[in-house]
Amino acid sequence: MKTWNEVYANAKSQCAKCRCCPVCDGRACRGETPGPGGKGSGSAFVRNSEMLKKILIQMDTITSNEEIDTASDFFGHPVALPVYAAPISGIEQNYGAKMRDDDYTRELVEGCLQANTLAFTGDGMHDEMFKGPMEIVKQHNGYGIPTIKPWQYEHMKWRIELANEGNALAIASDIDASGLSNLRNSVTPVGFKSVEDLKEIKAMCKVPFILKGILSVAGARKALAAGADGIIVSNHGGRVLDDSPSGIEMLEEIVNVVDGRMKVFVDGAFRSGNDVFKALALGADGVLIGRPASQAVIGGMAEGIRIYMEKIQLELKEAMAMSGCKSIQDITRDKVIVTF
Ligand SMILES: Cc1cc2nc3c(=O)[nH]c(=O)nc-3n(C[C@H](O)[C@H](O)[C@H](O)COP(=O)(O)O)c2cc1C
Repeated sequence: MKTWNEVYANAKSQCAKCRCCPVCDGRACRGETPGPGGKGSGSAFVRNSEMLKKILIQMDTITSNEEIDTASDFFGHPVALPVYAAPISGIEQNYGAKMRDDDYTRELVEGCLQANTLAFTGDGMHDEMFKGPMEIVKQHNGYGIPTIKPWQYEHMKWRIELANEGNALAIASDIDASGLSNLRNSVTPVGFKSVEDLKEIKAMCKVPFILKGILSVAGARKALAAGADGIIVSNHGGRVLDDSPSGIEMLEEIVNVVDGRMKVFVDGAFRSGNDVFKALALGADGVLIGRPASQAVIGGMAEGIRIYMEKIQLELKEAMAMSGCKSIQDITRDKVIVTF
């Protein structure tokens, strides 16, 4: 069995473009898109990391020795921890690793299932970039969440039909990909979607529909109006708008407005169980992790991502232990101090 350090060292040797920094915080790769970095000055990726560090965990050490349980669920599907692999596409192009997206997705989906959690899968400018990952989700009994880019209607429609046929647990759309300049100019361009467009898209989905890339209260209200079952509070890892706020900064306000009417997930530079704890305390139903999950697969295939998820789970357990939490439900707002 490999250790995380071995997986990480191997990822570093495989990636020609990503430096696999000891702290993956967007500083070294500012502006490197394509590549693993944030858009423009890279400030949004760096901010994602900085704002998480401004949240502190309250200690509560007079407590019992009960077993600590990180179990949760994803729209009713049990998971060992409410942490999911984020959709990532273009592994070779962005990381400089010799790995086809299909192979990446197979290992990612399998490793997440081995860790008793789930992976979101990606999409791209060529049809195969959705068909391949979707086929892998299908082969794994639908245990994955295909994430569709905001293409023109017909191109979203056939993708949703494939996801329905493949029994995907849920269907997501990264509507903020309308900010990715390479996709705006592609043969099938991405574009913006109105509430009415999204209602139509939601009506086609046989399973929960999640909007990825909501970063404001106004956006959350529109997602509710469109009938979404969940949102991912996200700035796409800082890759769609320079100077955008981070997901963690916007999370609490959005959770308050949503008031339990849909699930609220968050992503952006989550790197440890402590970071996950902070989002859960601010009301998130779950957290997605992007770049390190990719590094884990590149460095150790399915085993690598399983080891990574288990590492995050252990860290989450430690944070829970030191703050007097026995279950995910115990991670309440009073367990953190927000200093931003
Ligand atoms: C190289 C790369 C490719 C990505 N591809 C996709 C994608 O195909 N679909 C999508 O919804 N998000 C995509 N994302 C964004 C991630 O899903 C996620 O929102 C973000 O990376 C989370 O931040 P983190 O990587 O700092 O954890 C991509 C991100 C990176 C770095």
